[in-house]
Amino acid sequence: MEKRVRKAVLPVAGLGTRVLPGAKTTPKNLLNVVDRPILSYVVEEARAAGIEHLIFIVGRGQGAIEDYFDANPEIEGALEAKGKLDILAEVRRDLPEPGEMSFVRQMAPLGLGHAVWCARYIIGDEPFAVMLPDMLMAAEPPALAQAVAAYEQTGGNIIVVEPVPEGEAHKYGIVALDGRDGRLNRMTGMVEKPPAGTEPSNLFISGRYILQPEIFEILETQERGAGDEIQLTDGMAALMKRQDFHALEYEGTTYDCGDKLGLLRANVAFALRRPELADAARKMIQELL
Ligand code: G1P
Repeated sequence: MEKRVRKAVLPVAGLGTRVLPGAKTTPKNLLNVVDRPILSYVVEEARAAGIEHLIFIVGRGQGAIEDYFDANPEIEGALEAKGKLDILAEVRRDLPEPGEMSFVRQMAPLGLGHAVWCARYIIGDEPFAVMLPDMLMAAEPPALAQAVAAYEQTGGNIIVVEPVPEGEAHKYGIVALDGRDGRLNRMTGMVEKPPAGTEPSNLFISGRYILQPEIFEILETQERGAGDEIQLTDGMAALMKRQDFHALEYEGTTYDCGDKLGLLRANVAFALRRPELADAARKMIQELL
């Protein structure tokens, strides 16, 4: 029986270069999709997968993330006094249980592998999830729950993947598979940001992982890789020499909210999925076209 996945690491320290200047004073993962920050959706996804403890890896100037997940007596008091209880419930929906969230400072932007390594003392000796919050995933069951279900079948390590858009493989981590039969396949390799034309498959690492704690020993001494950063993909490739990795092609749609058009697409798509907004949003889009 595999150990249950109870903890998730959410690296949020990135500068949000592709969505500046919007992300200058608002951390990019607090930018809105319709009326909720991106992180609100990702926290909901984590909880739906049975995650009990969320560990945010934050950078300098990102105190707004902690504030978002704290009570706000001024706003809550005003809504209560005015009887706006539906908005109050929406505001409180994301608040953690006491102790459900921890915040760790990554003091220098050394890469995703380094960010995940910063969580080692909080994770300890158990499997854990990694969620890249700017990859917003609309799926039923939610993407991380699909990954946990796969993990319960195979054990080891799981990487959520999906087909990469034509000509974009060099922007992502790409996996190599030991044959392809259905959506869950054993992996034989992976490479971070392969030069165009060298990618080992058309499946990219899309931002949800379940990893074993031995990854931390590897990340500890790891050399810098692509982009001169300590890459999680390189650490996982090293761990794959000792442990099984499976790639799960999840069922759902990913929105890259770290990108202008991706964020716009998420806003449009999520508005169209909201019963109270869908008709008006559709009409508005048609008018704009
Ligand atoms: C990171 C990962 C990469 C993954 C991507 C998904 O890259 O290193 O393997 O495919 O996220 O967004 P980054 O976007 O930080 O360059």
